Amino acid sequence: MYDLLLFNIGQLLLPASTSRPLKGEEMKHLQVIEKAAMAVKDGKVAWIGQSEEGEKLEAISYLDVQGKVVSPGLVDPHTHFVFGGSRENELALKQAGVPYLDILASGGGILSTVQSTRNSTEEELFLKSSFHLERIISYGVTTVEGKSGYGLDRETELKQLKVMKKLQEKYPIRIVSTFLGPHAVPPEFKGKSDLFLEEMISMLEEIKEHSLADYVDIFCETGVFTVEQSKAFLEAGKKLGFGMKIHADEIDSLGGTELAVKVRATSADHLVAASEEGIKQLGKSDTVAVLLPGTTFYLGKEQYAKARKMIDTGVAVALATDFNPGSCVTENLQMIMSLAALKLNMSAEEIWNAVTVNAAFAIGKEDVAGTLTTGAQADFVVWEIPNYQYLPYHFGVNHVHSVYIAGEKVRRKKYEL
Ligand code: NIG
Ligand code: FE
Repeated sequence: MYDLLLFNIGQLLLPASTSRPLKGEEMKHLQVIEKAAMAVKDGKVAWIGQSEEGEKLEAISYLDVQGKVVSPGLVDPHTHFVFGGSRENELALKQAGVPYLDILASGGGILSTVQSTRNSTEEELFLKSSFHLERIISYGVTTVEGKSGYGLDRETELKQLKVMKKLQEKYPIRIVSTFLGPHAVPPEFKGKSDLFLEEMISMLEEIKEHSLADYVDIFCETGVFTVEQSKAFLEAGKKLGFGMKIHADEIDSLGGTELAVKVRATSADHLVAASEEGIKQLGKSDTVAVLLPGTTFYLGKEQYAKARKMIDTGVAVALATDFNPGSCVTENLQMIMSLAALKLNMSAEEIWNAVTVNAAFAIGKEDVAGTLTTGAQADFVVWEIPNYQYLPYHFGVNHVHSVYIAGEKVRRKKYEL
C-alpha cells in the first residue's frame, strides 16, 4: 500500500542520475515519461511507470494531475538570501551609469548591506530570511544554497550562519550553507585585505566545529580579492574539510576559473569573463560552472556568460538565481530559466538539467536532490504547464501548481478558479 499515487502525469521529467554531473553534450538529453504515474511511500519515490499501470496500484490517497508536468524539486545552488535591509536607492545610481564596482568602492553596494546586517538582531534576520525562503519554495525550489558574507566580522558572519541553521530546523527545504567571509573588504580593514583574510581564515575552525557551513567561497574580483588570496583562502578551507566554491571572473577576467579547476572546487560561479583557456580547463574537470544570467540582466550588461561555448567544450553547466539585495533581486528561479533560454541560448533540455541534476552536483547534494528515482526522497513539483518546453517560454510568472518535499505538500498555488 503506497501513501500517495500521482497519475495522469502529462510528462514526468527524470533528469539522469549519474556519478558525475552531466557535461557538454550529455546535457542535451532529458529523460521524459509521457502519461506517467508515480507512487510515494514513507517520503520516498516508491514506483515510477505508465499511468495505465499506476492507476491499478493501491494507495491511501490518489492525485489525478490532469496532464500536468511533474519534475524533481528545483535546486538553486547559489543565493545570498540572509541579509539585512535593501538597496532600492542604488537603482537610480545604476540608471545614472555608476558601475557596480564603483558603488562598492565608495562604501555602498555589498558594504551597505553589511551595515544593515550588522545592525539586525538574529531574530530580525531570521524573520526576514524566512520570508525570502518561503518565496524561494513557492517557485518550486526544494534545495537551496545560501551564503554568509554580509557580516565581514566574526560576530555577524556567525549570526548569518546560525540563522541558516535555525531555518533548516524549521523548514523542510534542504539548505546548504556556505561561508563567504571574504565577500568584500570591510571599512575597518581598508587597504589591509591580507590582514582581513587572515581574520576570516581564523574563523574556519569554529565554523567547522559547530557545523555551521558546508562550503567556503570568496569573491575573486578586481579591487576585492586576488587569485593568490583566493587560493590561500580556499586551500585553508579545504584543509579543514570544507567544499570549495568561488565567485570567479564575474566582471573582469582575473583567472578565477583556472584557479577553481586547479584546486578542484566543486563549483565556479558567474564566469561571464572566463577566458578561453579557463573554459577549456573547466571542460576537462568535474567542477560545475554555475551561471547566473539574472545577475548579468540586473546589472544591465550586454555580455552574458558563454554558455554555448561552455557546453560545446564539455563543461557541466548549472543555473542559479544569485538572489541577493544588490546584483540580482529575485527569488524566482523560473525567471532565470527563461533568461537562460533567451540570453544564454540554452535548450529546454539543457535548462531543466541545469536546475536539477547539475545544480545538485554544484552543492554536493547529487545523492539526495535533483532527480526522481526509486528510493530517492520524494521532492517534486507539479507544474501548471502543458509540456516542459513551455516553462522558459512563458516568462516572469510562477508556474507552480504545488510543491512536495519528502512526499508532503508544502506549497500549493494560492487561488483556484
Ligand atoms: O554574487 N558578486 C558578489 N556578490 C554578489 C553580489 C552581492 C551584492 O551586491 O550584495 C553576487 O553578485
Ligand atoms: Fe553571488
